[in-house]
Amino acid sequence: MARPSKQLVRLDVNQDVHDVAVEPRTTLLEAIRYALRLTGSKQGCDKGDCGACTVLVDGRPVLSCISLAVEGQGRKITTIEGLADGNHAHPVQDAFDVCGALQCGFCQSGMMLSAAALLEQNPRPSRDAIKEALSGNLCRCTGYTQILDAVEVASGQRDVPERDERPTTVRR
Ligand code: FES
Ligand code: FES
Repeated sequence: MARPSKQLVRLDVNQDVHDVAVEPRTTLLEAIRYALRLTGSKQGCDKGDCGACTVLVDGRPVLSCISLAVEGQGRKITTIEGLADGNHAHPVQDAFDVCGALQCGFCQSGMMLSAAALLEQNPRPSRDAIKEALSGNLCRCTGYTQILDAVEVASGQRDVPERDERPTTVRR
């Protein structure tokens, strides 16, 4: 059977505009990872369950594996590669680092983008609000405590926990 013809879509990703040839069924994740070669957005479950593919579309977290590339036209898309401000890491990135909130890192991009979107909307979220905002982002490694701590640190609501306050994590 003939493959569907491609069309050009204009995607604004991390403030760079790209014309990308996609099929109607091409997902936003496929366009980002395989056409634009921005591989920070991860292809986990590929069916909307894990959050590893999360990107921001007009500032809101979106699961790019179940969004179409054509839907990205005219929107501002931010991937993990665009979260830092030039050479300055986003506060969420710094907080994840100092809190040891990562292990294998597969969930990292989506987790950080969801957290950054939350703090943009609600700079001092409660612990429950953080849990709610990150509920679509699954992590198979950390147990979540350090991740929640990191978002509180990024929001300025707590100091970096002492190392022996944190649960033991396995590092690779
Ligand atoms: Fe998109 Fe899992 S890869 S939700
Ligand atoms: Fe491994 Fe989250 S650090 S999935």
